[in-house]
Amino acid sequence: MPDLENPFQETLIQRHRAESCTVVIFGATGDLTHRKLIPALYNLAVDGDLPPQFKVVGFARRDKPDDVFRAELEESNKKNSRQGHDAALWSSFGQSIHYHQSEFQDVEGYKSLKTLLDSFDKERGAPANRLFYLASAPEFFDQIMLKLRESGLNEGAGDKFSRVVCEKPFGKDLKTAQHLNEVVSQTFHEKDTYRIDHYLGKETAQNIMVLRFANLMFEPLWNSRYIDHVEITCSENLGMEGGRGGYYDTAGALRDMVQNHLFQLLSLVAMEPPTGLSADAVRDEKVKVIRSLRRWRGAKEVAENVIRAQYTAGSVDGVDRVGYRQEDRVNPQSNTESYVALRLYVDTWRWQGVPFYIRMGKQLPKKATEISIHFKNPPQIPFATETMNGTSNSLVIRIQPDEGISMGMLSKTPGQSLLLQSVKMDFRYSSSFGKASPEAYERLLLDAMSGDATLFARRDEVENAWTFIDEIEHAWHNEGEQPPMCEYPAGSWGPKEADELLHADGRAWRRL
Ligand code: BG6
Repeated sequence: MPDLENPFQETLIQRHRAESCTVVIFGATGDLTHRKLIPALYNLAVDGDLPPQFKVVGFARRDKPDDVFRAELEESNKKNSRQGHDAALWSSFGQSIHYHQSEFQDVEGYKSLKTLLDSFDKERGAPANRLFYLASAPEFFDQIMLKLRESGLNEGAGDKFSRVVCEKPFGKDLKTAQHLNEVVSQTFHEKDTYRIDHYLGKETAQNIMVLRFANLMFEPLWNSRYIDHVEITCSENLGMEGGRGGYYDTAGALRDMVQNHLFQLLSLVAMEPPTGLSADAVRDEKVKVIRSLRRWRGAKEVAENVIRAQYTAGSVDGVDRVGYRQEDRVNPQSNTESYVALRLYVDTWRWQGVPFYIRMGKQLPKKATEISIHFKNPPQIPFATETMNGTSNSLVIRIQPDEGISMGMLSKTPGQSLLLQSVKMDFRYSSSFGKASPEAYERLLLDAMSGDATLFARRDEVENAWTFIDEIEHAWHNEGEQPPMCEYPAGSWGPKEADELLHADGRAWRRL
């Protein structure tokens, strides 16, 4: 029997019982819908997790009949579905997909959408919940919110909810994020606003809280007495493929990945135990971490603690790559970073003096995201330290790929002499559970349909993260003296200045 007094017991209970729902995707002909959203919904259908009488409506500007839209989505599902593509299953799932043509600013299109949704409810014999997914370019968010309000679609049918899911980027600085938040809040309550950060939907990111708070052996050591430093690395072996240069050049590594995904990972590692698993209990603790980040202000502090860089021509996986400034749709004089490394401090009792190093880069040697926790050495070591190879204990959480956790510890090497060597205890999702983890979007879509906002960013989380990021962006782009833009060849592990950032503290980045 679950212990209902214990808030964590909720983990043992099936949390997802979504009621019948219609999902409306704005920007339905775009890449996200084809590569992520429809394959995620299809895989939920394969697992029998979709709510009953489910419907999805694609809202976009181009004119096309339902069957053409379905056929296009089927083609991309074949390429992108995690669990393959079953023609029979698709043909029944495909029937739930509809297309609705309208300009984003045309209120008539929203009124006819309402008529369509009402007709679905009539077929079902009862109103269903409604989820509006903003997968369009962010410049249309204002219009869409306004028209949803004008057409009354934000009010929900009967006693059913109407919710909005906002894709990233959620603003490009504090001001634009606040504006967006204002616009959204005029149409939907905060409790019905779901800001996607797909890193939170990753199985391994969800496991961080379980690792920390369901195992007694880690938490007593999880503080500045025992932890020397923490590294979070996100390395990507791609550049500006698929025409991304246009967007990316207005964002850069700090805005594109650090403000959202990597700060979310940082929060999960550094947060205090929440008092329960409600969305607000968890997010209250996460936002405290972001608020406690020591701010870097002005060119000097930023230069000392944050390294920015662009890739120059090189080769990744044996393939020649052009430099960042030569990429399609990138300004040849661009001042946007494709790599960033930061030294951060979380100024709380628990983390006093423990540096958190974060690095993210495009065109690095491989795709990998991991968090490594590096423990201090024992206070007194009875072995000759030169036999230790300089390694202390570490705990590595592999977010992707090869999801898992490994623990590094020193062991005696077999033989007559007392030589110590670092060995690994390894947990791999693939071998322990024998099945692939769901894609992040599967979990997040299901959560949004069933009303669980725990894995979505709250307004104050987003705004506090921007407050921190804005100071760095300001130092980088102000009129006066600016911290340098460093360089690294594509296919290398980043600029030498990022290595020096750690060397200055007597440390080095973990080799991936
Ligand atoms: C997106 C960024 O949010 O996340 C991309 O805009 C980045 O630039 C991507 O490549 C990384 O996601 P994942 O799941 O592949 O690590």
